[in-house]
Amino acid sequence: MRILGIESTCDETAAAVVELRPEGGGNILANEVMSQIAEHAAYGGVVPEIAARAHIDVLDRLITRALAHAKVSLAELDGIAGAAGPGLIGGVLVGLTTAKALALAAHKPFIAINHLEGHALTARLTDNLDFPYLLLLVSGGHTQLVAVKGVGDYQRIGSTVDDAVGEAFDKVAKMLGLGYPGGPLVEREALKGNAARYDFPRPMLGRAKPDFSFSGLKTAVRLEASRVSPLTGVEIADLCASFQAAVVDTLVDRLRAGLRVFIDQIGPCHSMVIAGGVAANDAIRRALTRFCGESGLSLVVPPPSLCTDNGAMIAWAGIERLRLGLTDDLTFPARPRWPLDANGEAAHHGKA
Ligand code: KG4
Ligand code: ZN
Repeated sequence: MRILGIESTCDETAAAVVELRPEGGGNILANEVMSQIAEHAAYGGVVPEIAARAHIDVLDRLITRALAHAKVSLAELDGIAGAAGPGLIGGVLVGLTTAKALALAAHKPFIAINHLEGHALTARLTDNLDFPYLLLLVSGGHTQLVAVKGVGDYQRIGSTVDDAVGEAFDKVAKMLGLGYPGGPLVEREALKGNAARYDFPRPMLGRAKPDFSFSGLKTAVRLEASRVSPLTGVEIADLCASFQAAVVDTLVDRLRAGLRVFIDQIGPCHSMVIAGGVAANDAIRRALTRFCGESGLSLVVPPPSLCTDNGAMIAWAGIERLRLGLTDDLTFPARPRWPLDANGEAAHHGKA
């Protein structure tokens, strides 16, 4: 089984071809991604209108290139999967409409994919991981703990009540004048800094409900930065290191709470997966590796190119659905908001 996957929900345009391995897991035959970071950098964040236009400019070319690299024609595909949300509606429409048009023209099944489901199932593409597992999804738009119990069977056990983690990194970078996207820049500064210099809050620490909050932490950094202003290089590094240390402590504590909820409500947990752009952060990876070691969990961290937005995860989610006989018709709507746990069939078809 071979599927073309198309992704355009945020600021990455992506097309990929993935095939199902007989023994499970997938082979990525092509994974083309074009980032729009340069187009948005001047604004310090993603501008929806610019994103939608940029998707239109490059998507056809990316699909052609993906098929060429995979050495398959449209006729040789078993289906076409497109991310139908959640995300910026203009961009979602570009990729979704393209996926539907190709499916119609090539007489192939069409599969509408929840972008978050793509992130949630990536560990099965890379590591053929068995259900159930605990997923920590940390990106610029999302911060969630999800029990992944089966295809289409997701239980959100915690999420942020305000900012996403990646968003907090981006905003801290912006207030310190570091640039966009902020995560990698804050991480680089943090390496040089003293994490003990500023005692930033660890939001939600110790609470049983595994929710997250990053807005207060961000504000604490802002207040401290304006107090010590004008900032020297040392202060910027120390602010970044202290901020990142607070994020790491918070994530580990929230994970501990999430694991308890998983065990109470679902049963034994053997594996944990981390996905989303923030999973590229080395300090976070190391802390989670330690936590999983202590908790007897195996940790699966997909490679960075599969943690950030990509087409392979959409193609793979398409494979997972198609092999269960789950396809969608061409009236499937683009959904700017689409919670993962409202993903039963009624919700999948936009009826809930
Ligand atoms: O998953 P992603 O590529 O896009 C979505 O938001 O869907 O994640 C991008 C986010 C940005 O907020 C970026 O600052 C953050 O991931 N990020 C990082 C790192 N690399 C990317 N955050 C912390 N440390 C990093 N090394
Ligand atoms: Zn994403």
